[in-house]
Amino acid sequence: MTTISPLIAGNWKMNGLSQSLDELTELAQLLTTGEAPRAVVVVCPPATLVAAVATQGASSGILAGGQDCHVNASGAHTGDISAYMLADAGAQFAIVGHSERRADHGETDDQVRAKAEAAIGAGLKPIICVGETEAQRDAGQAESIVAAQLVSSIPDAAGLHEVIVAYEPVWAIGTGRTPSNDDIAQMHASIRARLVDRFGADKGNTIRILYGGSLKPVNAREILAIDNVNGGLVGGASLLAKDFYTIISAV
Ligand code: PGA
Repeated sequence: MTTISPLIAGNWKMNGLSQSLDELTELAQLLTTGEAPRAVVVVCPPATLVAAVATQGASSGILAGGQDCHVNASGAHTGDISAYMLADAGAQFAIVGHSERRADHGETDDQVRAKAEAAIGAGLKPIICVGETEAQRDAGQAESIVAAQLVSSIPDAAGLHEVIVAYEPVWAIGTGRTPSNDDIAQMHASIRARLVDRFGADKGNTIRILYGGSLKPVNAREILAIDNVNGGLVGGASLLAKDFYTIISAV
């Protein structure tokens, strides 16, 4: 069985002013004075802070990521940011297809796939988000919905480049609710099987599958220990250095 180095990514969402870099300083201190983290640590701040996070995080091994990217490299797309811009600012990752983007901006699987391709093209590692709504889970469709999202949101280029999958049940995001450990294990096993099916065992077994949705200091240890959970995508709890560090240390 291939071992995958775990990765913990913080998604600051639309939170963070320059003052929030104090949290990054504190996180860097915790990471460099405590036991060396077993996880790759990524912080995805708002676009305005990507360059600062990349620069400031470098000495403590914190890597920077964007929260979204446009499908094109440049052009007349007011307000958007391209994967090349994120890379130019020092980012190494880009979240694509987060459920808030899918819901607030009507992003489809096809668009998410194109964004993931754009990220790969710019040299970034896309963190491709999938996850069912509560109604879909209640209707027993969670696995089939996620399976369909995987087919359409992950580009074929994932066979040759590094991508990361984040399973985030929509109903668990920002709600303080999480699926049972058994449900997480079942979904991650299903995702793993589909990745192996599509990309072959050698590749499919090396793709990280993160869990996201109310991952907190109090539940991180047990969730991150579940089979095929190769790290986490953390929203609310990534805003405070201490909480985020506790989650990183739970790996
Ligand atoms: P949450 O968000 O940890 O606040 O639930 C997770 C996410 O949206 O990535």
